[in-house]
Amino acid sequence: MVTGEHKLIAEHITRWFTSEDGVRLMALEDFNLKVNQGEVVALIGPSGCGKSTFLRLVAGLDEVQEGTLTYDGQPITAPDPNRGFVFQQANLYPWLTVEKNVAFGLKANKVYKEKKPRVQEMIDLMGLTGFEKSYPHQISGGMAARVAIAQTLVMDPEVILLDEPLSALDAFTRAVIQDEILKMVDRFHPIVLLVTHDIEEAVYLSDRVVVLSPRPGTNVADIKIDLPHPRDRISPEFIAKRHEVLDALDFE
Ligand SMILES: Nc1ncnc2c1ncn2[C@@H]1O[C@H](COP(=O)(O)OP(=O)(O)OP(=O)(O)O)[C@@H](O)[C@H]1O
Ligand SMILES: [Mg+2]
Repeated sequence: MVTGEHKLIAEHITRWFTSEDGVRLMALEDFNLKVNQGEVVALIGPSGCGKSTFLRLVAGLDEVQEGTLTYDGQPITAPDPNRGFVFQQANLYPWLTVEKNVAFGLKANKVYKEKKPRVQEMIDLMGLTGFEKSYPHQISGGMAARVAIAQTLVMDPEVILLDEPLSALDAFTRAVIQDEILKMVDRFHPIVLLVTHDIEEAVYLSDRVVVLSPRPGTNVADIKIDLPHPRDRISPEFIAKRHEVLDALDFE
């Protein structure tokens, strides 16, 4: 469900990094993105084109040098529990159980008391029921990825930043978690920015696929995926969308 006006607005975003010998490396140049409440947007583009850099900016972990980045009309200047980040590597606390890993952010933000029931809810939603008392070394990689997602979602973020969270998983586990992500989107209507190298994943999950150019990353295409859910990965419409994205990624 996509509603209302643009909530997240990135205009003319430029971010560069300066090396020790003073050489400027442009990561993003004049990148633009407007996202509505409840919209799932996939960002896809060649390695090094600034996708993770952009997610870090939206998370408030880094600052823009040029351009403006606002959420709900306010400039993004610092991290906020409202904007949750799921990193590529599941970053679990090895000394905490699954349950305590999921609850960690609630405790750190002093909202555990009121939101305690959300912990079990997220564990169930991510298919981790029965593993509440397990430690990270006792669960599979796919389960660890799900715990990492639950850890972020339990905070009920309004913006969810997913940086290739499923890239290390096998195709089957990946498909299971993709459906869990869709269930979550259907229930909570967050903004989701999903970085992925997997065109099928982008077309399966998102309302729009934004294609970035090779570094410095800028907008190349914005492809609307208006297929109803659940999507059939082998339908002609689905395959046509995959081709459209693939064509936009053909930079030669
Ligand atoms: N902290 C940093 N210091 C210096 N250079 C950086 C820093 N972070 C990113 N870069 C550079 O900025 C460019 C964009 O990096 P970024 O990680 O955003 O790419 P990406 O699109 O996420 O790539 P990938 O698909 O490989 O994850 C790269 O050339 C990278 O080397
Ligand atoms: Mg990256």
